[in-house]
Amino acid sequence: MSHSIIEFTPAHREAVDAILHDVTLSWGKQWYENICHMYCLECTSKGFLLKYVALDGQDVVGTILLRRAIDMYVIEFLAVKKGLRGVGVGSELVHFAEKLAREKGAKGLRVDVASDLRQNLSFYRKLGFEICGHVQDFYEPGDSQVFLTKNLAAAQVEKAEK
Ligand SMILES: CC(C)(COP(=O)(O)OP(=O)(O)OC[C@H]1O[C@@H](n2cnc3c(N)ncnc32)[C@H](O)[C@@H]1OP(=O)(O)O)[C@@H](O)C(=O)NCCC(=O)NCCS
Repeated sequence: MSHSIIEFTPAHREAVDAILHDVTLSWGKQWYENICHMYCLECTSKGFLLKYVALDGQDVVGTILLRRAIDMYVIEFLAVKKGLRGVGVGSELVHFAEKLAREKGAKGLRVDVASDLRQNLSFYRKLGFEICGHVQDFYEPGDSQVFLTKNLAAAQVEKAEK
């Protein structure tokens, strides 16, 4: 099933806030506050900060926040509403981000995930991201920060060759 993906507006604030709150509950208050803060920032000039929501009818079912880092976009936050995970919303949001990044001339997408969240690692790998590094024991002993990238230029070449 495909959802409509549109730019985040203040009208989505409450629904997005509920998703942010729910997801960051186990990550700590600081995460919640920092991500909330990023959703309030108005740094859209030159595509510095991009915020989108996935809708099922009028309902916000997912959200993605992207930050421009020179020639790539970093997925700062991606989340799907509890109870609706595993049915493709997250993948749709990443595909959307990929298309957007390419349109804006970015060479790649980057994301970092906690090694403890194995499902998230496999989620991104299935979408063509590759592990490019890690910081050992970053979150806590045994839980590393893992960096993944997708080279959009390479993805383009692969597509053309098919
Ligand atoms: C990670 C996340 C965005 C993926 O979105 P999604 O809509 O559930 O993902 P899709 O349906 O497109 O893809 C399914 C894949 O996501 C992964 N996945 C990660 N967490 C999952 C969850 N809680 N439930 C189901 N699948 C999950 C699995 O690899 C799954 O693959 P499988 O179906 O072969 O097992 C979503 O599960 C989520 O919001 N998780 C909590 C927030 C979070 O951790 N965000 C940070 C991401 S760095």
